[in-house]
Amino acid sequence: VEETLVLIKPDGVARNLTGEILRRIEAKGYSLVDMKLVQAERSLLAEHYAEHEGKPFYEPLIEFMESGPIVAFRIAGNRVIEGFRALAGTTDPTTAAPGTIRGDLGRDWGVKVQQNLVHGSDSPESATAELALWFD
Ligand code: GTP
Ligand code: MG
Repeated sequence: VEETLVLIKPDGVARNLTGEILRRIEAKGYSLVDMKLVQAERSLLAEHYAEHEGKPFYEPLIEFMESGPIVAFRIAGNRVIEGFRALAGTTDPTTAAPGTIRGDLGRDWGVKVQQNLVHGSDSPESATAELALWFD
């Protein structure tokens, strides 16, 4: 069965939305396989976001992800990678569709990086690599 990495980013943990976000994942019918609270090291975040190195939002993104604890979930289910991306909504929380995690719970806070509550792996290759990075 397919698995994906979901992260509750520091804004989601700080706003006490971990339970609400997990509730949505479980209500959709996906299974929780593993979870942990982590204060991420810069080296871990640099690997996780290697594809964005050099972009203008890269440094604020890494600083934001270092700013507080993150909750990491290993989630399983058929087509869970695309299914969770649909639950999460599009990247910009201001315009993410209502009904999604980002659309219902997120907004623009006037800071340098988009604080959009969650991360979900975007392909089978990134899910495999990211699960190894965060859990193994
Ligand atoms: P992740 O699940 O975090 O990977 O989000 P995503 O897949 O929806 O977006 P992407 O991988 O393209 O970007 C990673 C993160 O960088 C986003 O979640 C945002 O926090 C931030 N980001 C991406 N694009 C922009 C942008 O154009 N401006 C700003 N300020 N931040 C951005
Ligand atoms: Mg991404």
